[in-house]
Amino acid sequence: MPTNSLTITDNRTGKTYEVPINEDTIRATDLRKIKVDDDDFGMMTYDPAFMNTAACRSAITFIDGDKGILEYRGYPIEQLAEKSTYLETAWLLLHGELPTKDELTVWTNTITYHTFINENLKFVLDSFRYNAHPMGMLIAMISALGTFYPEAKNIFDEDVRNRQIERLIAKMITIAGFGYRHMVGMPYAYPDNELSYPANFLNMMYRTTELKYEPDPALVHALDVLFILHADHEQNCSTSTMRVAGSSHVDPYSSVAAACAALYGPLHGGANEQVIRMLTEIGSKQNIPAFIEKVKKGEGVKLMGFGHRVYKNFDPRATIIKKAAYGVFEVTGMSPLLEIAVELERIALADEYFVKRKLYPNVDFYSGLIYQAMKFPMDMFPVLFAIPRVSGWLAQWCEMLNDPDQKIARPRQIFTGSRKRDYKEIGQR
Ligand code: ACO
Repeated sequence: MPTNSLTITDNRTGKTYEVPINEDTIRATDLRKIKVDDDDFGMMTYDPAFMNTAACRSAITFIDGDKGILEYRGYPIEQLAEKSTYLETAWLLLHGELPTKDELTVWTNTITYHTFINENLKFVLDSFRYNAHPMGMLIAMISALGTFYPEAKNIFDEDVRNRQIERLIAKMITIAGFGYRHMVGMPYAYPDNELSYPANFLNMMYRTTELKYEPDPALVHALDVLFILHADHEQNCSTSTMRVAGSSHVDPYSSVAAACAALYGPLHGGANEQVIRMLTEIGSKQNIPAFIEKVKKGEGVKLMGFGHRVYKNFDPRATIIKKAAYGVFEVTGMSPLLEIAVELERIALADEYFVKRKLYPNVDFYSGLIYQAMKFPMDMFPVLFAIPRVSGWLAQWCEMLNDPDQKIARPRQIFTGSRKRDYKEIGQR
């Protein structure tokens, strides 16, 4: 008998089955041979939120939730945050290795020179109301962007694919910046090819009458670190959406728009906005104990920015962000909400309710405070998450397309509704 296998006895029939184990995993389809009789469809697994289902094999991002480890292509996030730049990290995610000096120069130039968007896209943006949510505009704009590149549907042509990847990464900051300018009723600020990626984004957000916009280097650095931290996080909700949409072989713009939509939700990319709202509502340090009690009583209130599906010890990104926050506040001045956040974290980490449930600050607990200090309106927070995550989504998308195991995603269901019955005329209902 092979040792790398699982022996399953079906007590309904008394039959025994042998299921191979590879990489600590069994293939769900191997369970289909477990049947009561020939008419039986076969055994399935029920896993509504993919709590214990591997939907792919991936070599991009490694997470050990218990130990608080996050690595991109084997490089610890702490080292990348300290030594790399977002564009270098994006290359790493996409290509599997850090770029050589020449590769990095060409890559940086390519991304820089693709930041301009077709002028017609501005008409799409102009048609939104002044108070349209920037994430709604971003989703629509990415989708619209794809219509300018009909060749993008040739997803199995590597050159075509790479060109769309360059365009998407480059134009994200332009679309995001233009979306903000539309929101505040200011003329669009065009890209400046002499600036770094994060500095160029700040330029398109905030430039007014100055001939040359020169953002504070400390803020540019903090933004770059935040971009690195958000670039990928293996099979989370939006990345899974990217893979599921992409599995139909649609063009990458449409898949990225779908992934952006998933990121928009308050349990995913919208959490840091909720953190700021929560801290504002708490208002002062003395109100914290009462707020914590409300959370513990489960009165529909959650401690936003706490808890994670995967990290059950600490979120390594939260540690880096907390440090970055102090760097930003040295330039912008202290945020009154930071005091509340620090005290809230201290009280929660010592409270049995949170300790027992392994609830720790996640990446969103401090990121919103940094964004707020840098004058980003709250509505822009998920956009700031989406900008760098595009590189992770695209790396995962390429991996999926090159994986012979992958097919169009199509989960099964356990049917719980009524079976065949006769149509009732309206008078009889
Ligand atoms: N505040 C209070 N209680 C919480 C919180 C929280 N933030 N998070 C989880 N819990 C409680 C749950 O009520 C549950 O308690 P119970 O066992 O008494 O029923 C227990 O902890 C386990 O929580 P689950 O909901 O099962 O954990 P899950 O892995 O499904 O959820 C999630 C993870 C969605 C992140 C959750 O912790 C949450 O809603 N946090 C707040 C939102 C947030 O910060 N999201 C950002 C995530 S990071 C990111 O997307 C970049």
